[in-house]
Amino acid sequence: MIKALADYQNMPDAVELTDKDLLEDGFGAHPYYRCLIAELAGTGGSTGSGAVGFAMYYFTYDPWAGRSLHLEDFFVMEPYRGIGIGSAMLKNISQEATAQRCSSMYFMVHSGNTTAIEYYKRRGAADLSEEDGWRLFRFAPDDLKRMAEGAPNLQR
Ligand code: ACO
Repeated sequence: MIKALADYQNMPDAVELTDKDLLEDGFGAHPYYRCLIAELAGTGGSTGSGAVGFAMYYFTYDPWAGRSLHLEDFFVMEPYRGIGIGSAMLKNISQEATAQRCSSMYFMVHSGNTTAIEYYKRRGAADLSEEDGWRLFRFAPDDLKRMAEGAPNLQR
């Protein structure tokens, strides 16, 4: 489903992680993420329930507002969309965020994913890029390595 979501976002080759990475990072002594799996009765063959959706999330910390939940991935398989599974998952994650005393839930949506943008907006989400001017940055692996090794090699 991680790969299916990457496909949906027109980035089929973006998933570099292996099953082994996911197991190590999510199920060790210090898990880096949590995952909610939606199962639906009657979709799992002889075993009964099958997995039809997932949400991957983790906790972050904001020096202004304290604990936050970051929703990283959110996906329901195409045949099972539009019947309330996503809403039930958001409810479950919101309950966990509240129980963990998080003040907010953050997430990123690609600007081309207008269906998801409208989905979140209908539920009251604020678009921070549009409303507050926040921009998303990243240092790629080569930048990280360069900075870790010393000289900042500033670009002008
Ligand atoms: N497909 C999608 N939505 C439909 C469909 C359909 N076939 N039919 C109706 N809808 C409407 C519903 O009426 C409902 O409207 P509402 O917002 O007024 O309640 C809404 O779309 C769907 O609500 P749910 O059934 O609760 O949600 P769903 O189970 O479809 O899950 C999700 C929502 C996860 C966004 C799902 O549509 C999906 O996987 N989309 C593709 C992947 C995606 O864009 N994921 C989000 C990326 S952003 C991120 O990960 C942080």
